Amino acid sequence: MKPLYYKESLITWRFLQICLVLVLLNESNSNQFDPHVLPKYGPFFEGWYIRITESHSPVRFGLLFGHVIPEDASSVTPRVLATILYKTCQDGNCPLKSIDAFFNFSSVSITAKGHRVTKDPDDESPANFEWVASSNTSMAIFKVVNDSTYFDFKLNGARLSGKVGRHIPWGPHGEGPEGPFIEHFPLPLSWFVYSLRSQIVHYEFQDPTTGIVWRSDNAVVHLEKNWGKSFPKAWIWAQGTSDVAYVALSGGLVTIATVDVLAYLIGYRNFAKNLSVNFQPINSVTVSNHNGCRGYANLTVTSVLHKLILNMTTNINQLSDCLYGPMKNGFTKACVESYDANIEAVLYKKHLIDGFVEVDHQFILKTGLEFGGEYVCRNMCRPTVP
Ligand SMILES: *[C@@H]1O[C@H](CO)[C@@H](O)[C@H](O)[C@H]1NC(C)=O
Ligand SMILES: *[C@@H]1O[C@H](CO)[C@@H](O)[C@H](O)[C@H]1NC(C)=O
Ligand SMILES: *[C@@H]1O[C@H](CO)[C@@H](O)[C@H](O)[C@H]1NC(C)=O
Ligand SMILES: *[C@@H]1O[C@H](CO)[C@@H](O)[C@H](O)[C@H]1NC(C)=O
Ligand SMILES: *[C@@H]1O[C@H](CO)[C@@H](O)[C@H](O)[C@H]1NC(C)=O
Ligand SMILES: *[C@@H]1O[C@H](CO)[C@@H](O)[C@H](O)[C@H]1NC(C)=O
Repeated sequence: MKPLYYKESLITWRFLQICLVLVLLNESNSNQFDPHVLPKYGPFFEGWYIRITESHSPVRFGLLFGHVIPEDASSVTPRVLATILYKTCQDGNCPLKSIDAFFNFSSVSITAKGHRVTKDPDDESPANFEWVASSNTSMAIFKVVNDSTYFDFKLNGARLSGKVGRHIPWGPHGEGPEGPFIEHFPLPLSWFVYSLRSQIVHYEFQDPTTGIVWRSDNAVVHLEKNWGKSFPKAWIWAQGTSDVAYVALSGGLVTIATVDVLAYLIGYRNFAKNLSVNFQPINSVTVSNHNGCRGYANLTVTSVLHKLILNMTTNINQLSDCLYGPMKNGFTKACVESYDANIEAVLYKKHLIDGFVEVDHQFILKTGLEFGGEYVCRNMCRPTVP
């Protein structure tokens, strides 16, 4: 029986591969940074996130913004959010801080190439869109055109504004962390990285309530986006870069057809050594050992050719208060994040005779590390309406 069983499953796999090839011949990869079409009915969300890493200072900034079409149309949970994230103190206990503003959907304008969005991001054409939200007390403008990104967020008196230079893509032909295969499956949640580390042109932060002013033209910026039905049940997200290395990952318990699946998307780069390795659930196995109460997430991911160990730690005093995330009915408290985590990364490559041999070992400091949903210490960021 067994050989027959194997044969059958081989045939099934071959069939799936042929289907995938047909799908891929039809569609090439796309630049998914542009906004998707808003469906008439929820749940649906789309959210962007950028993270600014200073080159010669531990100061860090982030921006996140997005919108939700709720599953329950009568829900009063906020549907539009913009947040400035900042960590401006150099030493000591200085957790990540956030400044949030909610907006009415009626005061949001989302356009691609200057027009209302009527089709999903097309393959490979350059990102070109604008997301604007305003209220009596706040205004958020985010714009990508001519391979430059502009942002100007004035939220309740504080302001983060600036310009980012050309994007450094994750992969060829607009390929993101999901790679050319997973991208075509109907996932409940998608993650796309537009740029690994763009050079900032200039930026400025002002917060009158604390008197903090920060201006710089010496930083790199990670730009990414999520969209789908809702953030998952439990997740870990991390991103960081040093002069030579870069890491970004997102994963956790994703519910696919009522089954909770543990899935991680992981990318590692060493620009000096020209190393670029990506892991997806279809080509790798991730073993994760994490504890939100103690502030660590240690992952080991193994594919046929590579093994990557990422030991990520943060002092729990550096974690933010609960941040908002897009859930099925709007933005609710969802996760905690540190901009003070350290990542130790060890990359191995499989050799025919010696097995896995170490090819890179890096320490990336002051990275972002987020625990979300049930992975937050004592699940303390439970959904509550602000
Ligand atoms: C949303 O609109 C309502 C009614 O027009 C208004 O009272 C409220 O202040 C607005 N909320 C925001 C965040 O602008
Ligand atoms: C916001 O501004 C509008 C128009 O200027 C005004 O009608 C409304 O009362 C203001 N809402 C609040 C909450 O200040
Ligand atoms: C983008 O480039 C086009 C063509 O070079 C130019 O006409 C346009 O003004 C540029 N837009 C911005 C905002 O720089
Ligand atoms: C970097 O590696 C890629 C393959 O991973 C290769 O195509 C490219 O030529 C390499 N670039 C340099 C500068 O060695
Ligand atoms: C990373 O964490 C694993 C356990 O998750 C541990 O066995 C290993 O020693 C750690 N590696 C380093 C370099 O600290
Ligand atoms: C996780 O990694 C850190 C840093 O290498 C290490 O100190 C710690 O022991 C690891 N934790 C577990 C549970 O393996």
